[in-house]
Amino acid sequence: MILRIEGLCKTYPGGVKALDGVSLDIRAGENLGLVGESGCGKTTLARAIMGLVAPDKGTVIFHGHPGRREFCRQVRMVFQDPFSSLDPRYSVRAILNEALRLEPRMTTGEGLTRMRRVLDLVRMPRDILSRYPHEFSGGERQRLAIARALMTEPSLLILDEAVSSLDVLVQKDIVLMLEDLQQRLRMTYFFISHNLRVVRRLSRKIAVMTGGRIVEYADRDEVFNRPSHPYTRALIQAAFNYEVAP
Ligand SMILES: Nc1ncnc2c1ncn2[C@@H]1O[C@H](COP(=O)(O)OP(=O)(O)OP(=O)(O)O)[C@@H](O)[C@H]1O
Ligand SMILES: [Mg+2]
Repeated sequence: MILRIEGLCKTYPGGVKALDGVSLDIRAGENLGLVGESGCGKTTLARAIMGLVAPDKGTVIFHGHPGRREFCRQVRMVFQDPFSSLDPRYSVRAILNEALRLEPRMTTGEGLTRMRRVLDLVRMPRDILSRYPHEFSGGERQRLAIARALMTEPSLLILDEAVSSLDVLVQKDIVLMLEDLQQRLRMTYFFISHNLRVVRRLSRKIAVMTGGRIVEYADRDEVFNRPSHPYTRALIQAAFNYEVAP
């Protein structure tokens, strides 16, 4: 077990109940996919795990109960929109270097080595450190966002719609890259997407969310062959255009 989520509730000012008692386990080394329609609470859940949203109720327990800094090193997030998640005022070097505030003992030389390594991992050239986000395409920016997340050698990566804004071919490249990275770096993924096709490709375990609740949590094949909740059946039908027997 790497992360245990217990009974998370969050109602936003204005009365939107974004999380309505969410419990979920993320096991070490697994790739857990989370699907559900727009507005069902997926990003709120990710942000609550990261400590960016304060839940009204419930807890997030990370393996070994690390302190805040160690948690921030171990658990990293990639956001949906690579145009807003990378600050246009910062060079690639500054963007990657920012993560190293979590690694205070690292020397400048070690930091540079780490930067080159993560650029290699996301298949970007090493000589882009002095360039700025606007000089890159959406797909390249998302690679940079992934590189930034890898800077602290995390054990858990939360990917919130990390490929959703990209065209299908770029999406495919990045999904393949993510699969490869997970193997090589032995990371755990929490892969959030409204796209059931992408989740089916990438995730062995799938959770389905609607209206702030998890309504299904099972192995991929189980979810696709024997979905237990009507909402899951509706999602599958919408995504693949076929009927699943109840
Ligand atoms: N800061 C906020 N203030 C008020 N309401 C919010 C806030 N953030 C999200 N909400 C509302 O909470 C609900 C859940 O939003 P959330 O962003 O978690 O959904 P989501 O599943 O990530 O959607 P999407 O697939 O579109 O990214 C929505 O109804 C949304 O309008
Ligand atoms: Mg979202």
